[in-house]
Amino acid sequence: MTMTEIATTNPADAASAPLYRLTDVTRTYRQKDRVVKALAGVDLEIAAGDFVTIQGPTGGGKSTLLQLLGALDRPTSGSVLLGDVDLAGATSAQLGHVRAREIGFVFQGFNLIPTLSAAENVDMALEPLGIPKADRAAQVAAALEHVGLADRADHRPGELSGGQQQRVAIARAIVKRPRVLLADEPTGNLDESMRDEILAVLESLCAEGLTLIVVTHDSAVARRARRRLRIDRGQVRDITAGRDITR
Ligand SMILES: Nc1ncnc2c1ncn2[C@@H]1O[C@H](COP(=O)(O)OP(=O)(O)OP(=O)(O)O)[C@@H](O)[C@H]1O
Ligand SMILES: [Mg+2]
Repeated sequence: MTMTEIATTNPADAASAPLYRLTDVTRTYRQKDRVVKALAGVDLEIAAGDFVTIQGPTGGGKSTLLQLLGALDRPTSGSVLLGDVDLAGATSAQLGHVRAREIGFVFQGFNLIPTLSAAENVDMALEPLGIPKADRAAQVAAALEHVGLADRADHRPGELSGGQQQRVAIARAIVKRPRVLLADEPTGNLDESMRDEILAVLESLCAEGLTLIVVTHDSAVARRARRRLRIDRGQVRDITAGRDITR
């Protein structure tokens, strides 16, 4: 949202308006003569600052939904409002702009560059934003501090534990101060103690107002969420509210 848009929004509306509003969203993949309905008409609102998990069987549509929320993809039909921007009608350049500024991503397997230090890996998220190098250094240090890795800034990924590597990936996702953090199986490769370490970091970020949306197979992670969704064959169910949210 731009400053002008903030100025023209009634504060009372802004407080109650959801961060995301999806209306009758479908995503169909076509391959030769086969059609897969990965999302079958989803109505979903997500409040700012919420902690939402998405569970469900393999092939159910979890990553498809996360890609739509992350401005990585557009729906086949329906609308995906992030604030007052409809991602469904956005150009690729507009989607890129939203991704760079509003959304942090954490993927399973960390995706860190092995030859770069933790600080350099985190800095990569700021480089495309045109922020001066001196300011970037302060933001990188703050992000690493946030995930408890101030003393590991110069370590390369190979010199860090799995939990520490995932924390670097989270620092990289939050360093630009996005509105949303999207994570696909952020604890998937980790043992129990590292999983708890990552959950503690995620919960502290959520407590500061970041919206968390986490795909997970791990019910221990889902139990910590404020809101649980489940997707099976493109049908979404709000487990917390106890109702289907697919048409
Ligand atoms: N690019 C694509 N082209 C064709 N079909 C696709 C594509 N991406 C996903 N699909 C199909 O859409 C459905 C949903 O896939 P999706 O990746 O969203 O599942 P998922 O819930 O994330 O599964 P997993 O737990 O295995 O990651 C699956 O049937 C999948 O085969
Ligand atoms: Mg997936």
